[in-house]
Amino acid sequence: MKISVIGCGYVGLVAATCFAEMGNDVVCQDIDGEKIRALEGGKVPIFEPGLEELIKKNVRAKRLSFTVDFEKVVLHGEVIFIAVGTPPRDDGGADLSYIENVARGIAAIAKVPKIVVEKSTVPVLTGERVEQVLKCGNGNAGKECIQHMVVSNPEFLREGSAVKDFLEPDRIVIGTNSEKARAVMEKLYAPLKAKIVFTDIKSAELIKHASNSFLAAKISFINAVANICEKTGANIQDVAYGMGLDKRIGASFLNAGLGYGGACFPKDVDAFIWIAERNGYDFGILKEVQKINRLQRALFAKKVEDILWVLKDKTIGVLGLAFKPNTDDMRLAPSIDIINALQKEGAKIKAYDPEAMERAKTVLRGVEYCNSMYDVAKDADALLFLTELDEFRKIDFEKVKKLMRQQVICDGRNMFNPAELRSLGFNYVSIGRV
Ligand SMILES: NC(=O)c1ccc[n+]([C@@H]2O[C@H](COP(=O)([O-])OP(=O)(O)OC[C@H]3O[C@@H](n4cnc5c(N)ncnc54)[C@H](O)[C@@H]3O)[C@@H](O)[C@H]2O)c1
Repeated sequence: MKISVIGCGYVGLVAATCFAEMGNDVVCQDIDGEKIRALEGGKVPIFEPGLEELIKKNVRAKRLSFTVDFEKVVLHGEVIFIAVGTPPRDDGGADLSYIENVARGIAAIAKVPKIVVEKSTVPVLTGERVEQVLKCGNGNAGKECIQHMVVSNPEFLREGSAVKDFLEPDRIVIGTNSEKARAVMEKLYAPLKAKIVFTDIKSAELIKHASNSFLAAKISFINAVANICEKTGANIQDVAYGMGLDKRIGASFLNAGLGYGGACFPKDVDAFIWIAERNGYDFGILKEVQKINRLQRALFAKKVEDILWVLKDKTIGVLGLAFKPNTDDMRLAPSIDIINALQKEGAKIKAYDPEAMERAKTVLRGVEYCNSMYDVAKDADALLFLTELDEFRKIDFEKVKKLMRQQVICDGRNMFNPAELRSLGFNYVSIGRV
């Protein structure tokens, strides 16, 4: 099938590459010329396990190409995926200007009916707007009347395992009112042999926002329980294990820690609250989810301060900057708020993250970046674990102990055993475990 993907970010690039891997002829377009030049030169602008090899393989096989040319991408595909950003606005709503621009562009350029797919995460009722924009007579003056078809096909991939998630999804959601579009989408995804959920457009849009908000709620819930554990002396890992064995609850997303970050959960929860409000419903439970998430970062910074007392001129080592493992994505990472809070009190920050340091340099100021975990530990008054990377699990604590000025470990991801760390002579704090 001829497939077009507009937007070469985490979602667009992975989707385009995977569609090519599935045997389709894919053109992926972006307005960011630098990104496209890098891709054409064989460089992948994001870190995502397995992606680079798959891009190279499919470019070589001439199934995948990149362009800045909007007309080219619109004319190419029978199916056009819109995978541009939908960033948060100040009022919490999603900024849909990129989606609108692309939809208007498609309406102006396409000469035959296209299947236009919302791949980006958008609030419910966006599909109606896209349909209006694509309709003949809507600013498409002088054009022959073309009946485009709209599909909502939200993406559920997770950064860090995006390729695998795309090729082995739990489910594929296809929301459309067009029989033809439904059949084409079903054929496109058939090689994945995944469960497909067919709905109308609005329900598909809601499935995405409701899913992300539910997962965010699970994270905030377990973090709230962790705070009760700390106050009462219970152990959050035992509590979560006991809860998770109940099949109605499930074990995933019950790891207490520093809360959620990244480009999706925070903005999707915001946007869900916003669209609910626009439709006359106060989604109070989600407001509480946000509040707990913000508090979790502040409580962690406070824990560090409680141990070190005066933070001014103390050296604090930070291991892990990205919002989760195996990504370089720094968007709304807990590390940003925690480091900012510690710097505000005068602490000096040294940090290491194998993937995210280049991006971190654009959002964090006054941080000394190191080449290894041990460089970070050297002369540090405390060592903070903010991302649960496997590399960190293998750290040699005997060596760390000798390098540090004060033997303080603050584990924001419950990666280590408190008794073991204390027996090694560390002052160790974590989340929901005393
Ligand atoms: N990142 C994730 O894990 C993830 C998962 C599921 C869904 N989503 C959703 O997918 C969408 C994209 O997310 P992302 O993380 O890939 O964003 P991103 O910022 O990494 O990529 C968006 C890309 O779109 C490009 N773009 C913007 N306007 C354009 C235009 N008019 N024409 C062509 N390209 C344009 C940008 O230059 C950028 O490269 C968002 O709605 C997001 O919520 C993201």
